[in-house]
Amino acid sequence: MFPVHRPRRLRKNPVIRRMVRETSLSVDDFIYPLFVVEGKGIKKEISSMPGCFQESIDEVVKNAKEAYSLGIPAVLLFGIPEHKDEVGSSAYDEHGVVQEAVKAIKDAIPELYVITDVCLCEYTSHGHCGIVEKGDVLNDPTLELLSKEAVSHAKAGADMVAPSDMMDGRVEAIRLALDEEGFSEVPIMSYAAKYASSFYGPFREAAESTPQFGDRRSYQMDPPNRREALKEVALDIEEGADIVMVKPALSYLDIISDVRESFDVPVAAYNVSGEYSLVKAAGRLGWIDEQRVMMEILTSIKRAGADLILTYHAKEAAKLLSK
Ligand code: PBG
Repeated sequence: MFPVHRPRRLRKNPVIRRMVRETSLSVDDFIYPLFVVEGKGIKKEISSMPGCFQESIDEVVKNAKEAYSLGIPAVLLFGIPEHKDEVGSSAYDEHGVVQEAVKAIKDAIPELYVITDVCLCEYTSHGHCGIVEKGDVLNDPTLELLSKEAVSHAKAGADMVAPSDMMDGRVEAIRLALDEEGFSEVPIMSYAAKYASSFYGPFREAAESTPQFGDRRSYQMDPPNRREALKEVALDIEEGADIVMVKPALSYLDIISDVRESFDVPVAAYNVSGEYSLVKAAGRLGWIDEQRVMMEILTSIKRAGADLILTYHAKEAAKLLSK
């Protein structure tokens, strides 16, 4: 009888579809990013990221508690300091906004895993991720500041640090600094293949980190490059990265897949601000079914090979998954 092969047999009803499903999304996969500002009682919605807020420490603790109660295992903290200068000194101040937020969250919810973003762009007056001289972002002098920043986060109680600056050699520099200060058990999740992407637009409003001149193309990767991602990831693993990240996620599923195929360490993918905003905007216009599109996107990131997904959708998706 024609045809012998009828793939539709295994799609006939929800039960058989559930049985042969190849990818399953879980709340265990999620890392929820949070933006911390100085002050008290502040919860200011980010206009281009509905549902995401700049929050003072008291509010961030509440948000983290809610995430934890939904089963989300981890948060990623970004700090937005009041004081910015040429060398980003608030980034490695032991009483800086992230350092204090880490202490407050770990005090309130010790089981919640707290990861910190290690970068200078939110802390520098020029908005670049390193020290600037004559319009250039200097690599090696920046490593020392990033190392100080990572150590200060670990001292505050961070469970893991995540450098996102894309300076060469920073994973090794941070690993050595952490080890020297007695934090050899704090893992590094490196933003290994991080592209110079326009999808970060809304984040820069959220983190007030738009470069005041030029762009980040001399340090973040060029979007058309695929093989180069494997080189970046290999270098970071050699330097001691425990988890490697691909960022952004959705336009870079091929990169996630390549990294998954080529390396055996856990792979994280960052479903970035612009990817989130597109879904929110189209949802508000009634042009898409927002929840289904969100779940399809997160599933596709997992299917491509990500073990961990950093996403602003974490709480909403966790609620849907528990139904
Ligand atoms: C900081 C950093 C950025 C993001 C995470 N860490 C912005 C950038 O590199 O300009 C982007 C996150 C997002 O868009 O959601 N270096």
